[in-house]
Amino acid sequence: MDIYKNSYSITEKIKLLKKEGKSIGFVPTMGALHQGHISLIECSKRNNDITVVSIFVNPTQFNNPDDLQKYPRTFETDKEKLNLANCDILFYPSEKEIYPQNDSNISFDLGILDSIMEGKHRPGHFNGVATVVSKLFKIVLPDNAYFGQKDFQQLAVIKHINSEYLKNLNININACKIIREKDGLAMSSRNVLLSKEYRKNASMISEVIFESQKLSKKLSVGELKNWVISKFEQNSYLELEYFDIVNNITLEQVNHWNESNTKVACIAVYAGNIRLIDNIIY
Ligand code: PAF
Repeated sequence: MDIYKNSYSITEKIKLLKKEGKSIGFVPTMGALHQGHISLIECSKRNNDITVVSIFVNPTQFNNPDDLQKYPRTFETDKEKLNLANCDILFYPSEKEIYPQNDSNISFDLGILDSIMEGKHRPGHFNGVATVVSKLFKIVLPDNAYFGQKDFQQLAVIKHINSEYLKNLNININACKIIREKDGLAMSSRNVLLSKEYRKNASMISEVIFESQKLSKKLSVGELKNWVISKFEQNSYLELEYFDIVNNITLEQVNHWNESNTKVACIAVYAGNIRLIDNIIY
């Protein structure tokens, strides 16, 4: 695996590979790699000649400085995992490389995406994601980019900026399914930060959303939301931040089942001071 830290050098290398007719798959990450990331890499490897992974803990997407400081950084084990997964190129830029001093802030119009669910509870988060992803796309120039469906709203944001702001790059956005631990907890780099008791209780998040899918056949939207709220009220380790049911394309709130054919239920829960998200398609 070749490692690049410099944007200019990796762009030149990619341009050369593309001239040779090679297709480029790209998996942007913030490191602390787990099986969810590996599944994205496997997907990229099946469909592209060259797979590029980036590791960059992006400061502009953290609305909480404590969360940024705590975010796990495990570069040496990440490198081993990437070698085992046969990643071809790793892009590991410094903060200065992505955000040079003379860089100006970019502001994206994300429509409702920035004011609902994650957007509402993490102000500025998606503008930070959009900023870094657009910078990375312009550096790596992939044909295909891969993102996990666990971050459902992030995926919608990335599809939006790709079609509204980055059309000329011709990048296909590929969504990959959520990878779960044995007890159902959606894999996340933040899971390693959970202490034993919180980790044990965190499995309730997926249990509740799986059960909510079944109950959606019997209960109204309002009744279902109340059922979810009451489940979390009974668990002193977990605090529900939101449980919302939205149209899975527009992400507009669904108040009655007949408002949309396919819906996605999205949830955010605090396990102590660790924030976990998950979702399920109804
Ligand atoms: O999902 C993530 O790990 C990050 O939000 C991403 C897409 C790599 C941007 O920093």
